[in-house]
Amino acid sequence: MRILFIADVVGSPGRGAIEQRLQTLKAELEVDACVLNGENAADGIGITPRLADRLLAAGADAITLGNHAFRRMEIGPYLEGSQQVIRPANTSMHTPGRGLAIVPTSNGARLAVINVLGSLFLHPACSMFEVIDELVETARRETPLVLVDAHAEATSEKIALARWLDGRVTAVVGTHTHVQTSDARVLAKGTAFITDAGMTGPHDSVIGVVSDLAIRRMRTGLPVRFETAQGDVRIEGALIDCDSETGTASSIEAVRVSMS
Ligand SMILES: [Fe+2]
Repeated sequence: MRILFIADVVGSPGRGAIEQRLQTLKAELEVDACVLNGENAADGIGITPRLADRLLAAGADAITLGNHAFRRMEIGPYLEGSQQVIRPANTSMHTPGRGLAIVPTSNGARLAVINVLGSLFLHPACSMFEVIDELVETARRETPLVLVDAHAEATSEKIALARWLDGRVTAVVGTHTHVQTSDARVLAKGTAFITDAGMTGPHDSVIGVVSDLAIRRMRTGLPVRFETAQGDVRIEGALIDCDSETGTASSIEAVRVSMS
């Protein structure tokens, strides 16, 4: 079976690309399950209940988040009640929602989705390594198909997590840095991995932000209100082939679709 992971959807350009193209892309790629990172869906930062519902309606089976999960506070009660939209498992125990979802796939299987935060710059309540083993065990009691969204700044943290989980999960997909890496591979014991799946949004930008604004903040150190860029919109992510009976991955490749 095939799992399509859609990398960080940024603002209205990213959402527009998903609403316009995801259903046909899933059909073209013969996808059985689609997981999407939506932490930047609302104006480039956070997500609202309305936008989460729209991304699910556009074809996502599950939505993961990240360090900006709670920038829009109205998402809290929604996460409490959602079976498909999850926040990182290692945020504070007092935050709403959960870090594990189990969703049905179109081929009759079930896919477990786990979301965790790396430590560098992102300030999780505890290290992802403190929570991941129990999460994976819980998931694997339900289904052999397990995808982990490792939302982290440091490439080393994402690679280390993938190697720690090799043979226990179907895929570890890195998010957060918005720059697709060229290291998609299946590890020795059958876990598919890519350090960063990229960004679904405007690539004529500084990781989604209007370049001049990002540069001005970096040059001056003064507060600058960021705006989402518009140009060179792409859908990026990763496509994983795996065995639905064992959960073992056989291939992973980076996905890049230009909208222009
Ligand atoms: Fe992030």
